[in-house]
Amino acid sequence: MPLLEAEGLTAGYGDSEILHDVHLRVDEGEIVALIGPNGAGKSTLMKAIFGLVTPRHGSIRFRGKEIAGHTPYNIVKEGLCYVPQVANVFTQLTAEENLDMGGYLLDESALPERKERVYALFPKLRERRHQRVGKMSGGERQMVAIGSALMLDPALLLLDEPSAGLSPKLVDEIFANIEHINATGLAILMVEQNARKALAMATRGYVLASGQNRVDGPGQALLDDPEVGRLYLGG
Ligand SMILES: Nc1ncnc2c1ncn2[C@@H]1O[C@H](COP(=O)(O)OP(=O)(O)OP(=O)(O)O)[C@@H](O)[C@H]1O
Ligand SMILES: [Mg+2]
Repeated sequence: MPLLEAEGLTAGYGDSEILHDVHLRVDEGEIVALIGPNGAGKSTLMKAIFGLVTPRHGSIRFRGKEIAGHTPYNIVKEGLCYVPQVANVFTQLTAEENLDMGGYLLDESALPERKERVYALFPKLRERRHQRVGKMSGGERQMVAIGSALMLDPALLLLDEPSAGLSPKLVDEIFANIEHINATGLAILMVEQNARKALAMATRGYVLASGQNRVDGPGQALLDDPEVGRLYLGG
């Protein structure tokens, strides 16, 4: 059984339909990359999966259970967490307070152990745990955002452009972190503008354009596909 399977998904905002009959699957243990031009509907697809945009047609099954149209609150409880493209941290709070917020569904007694696990993954955050996130670098903020999502110990993590705005060195660092998190058994669906790097790391990839599926397949197969290279990877 796939971990996540979306089929025939149609969704949009107001009168405008953005996603047309979209399909996507994530299996246990996979890193799946979602790429495509600006405005393709990648973030909208993530929002539809996470319940922030209500699908008009189609199904979204998570661990076999239909979640299309469910609230984010209920979807989180199923084991799916989401790190948005923008505004994904509380800048006025410290790193540790952000992690506490990420663990809002947990019993308070469970928080220290979960935070320990996040700090073990991101030792830099432990050092800076009492610093306000608004004063942190882009890379550190992204660690706080991902760390907050990990607090609930999800089975699938949705990451919308985790490397956005980071220097090349920090991009490599965040990608290494993502691989490391995946190696702990967590499946990952990520939207990325750094498409080549994302596909090189991904088990499989999907190209979305104008709200429609274009190509999908193993990450390496997409990298080797001349048409994908020309149209979506900048030659
Ligand atoms: N809240 C909204 N209300 C109305 N239209 C929206 C809203 N959010 C996005 N759109 C429109 O939906 C389309 C797809 O946007 P979306 O953010 O999903 O694209 P994307 O593939 O994530 O792009 P990017 O690579 O720039 O992040 C765009 O035309 C955008 O203008
Ligand atoms: Mg986007």
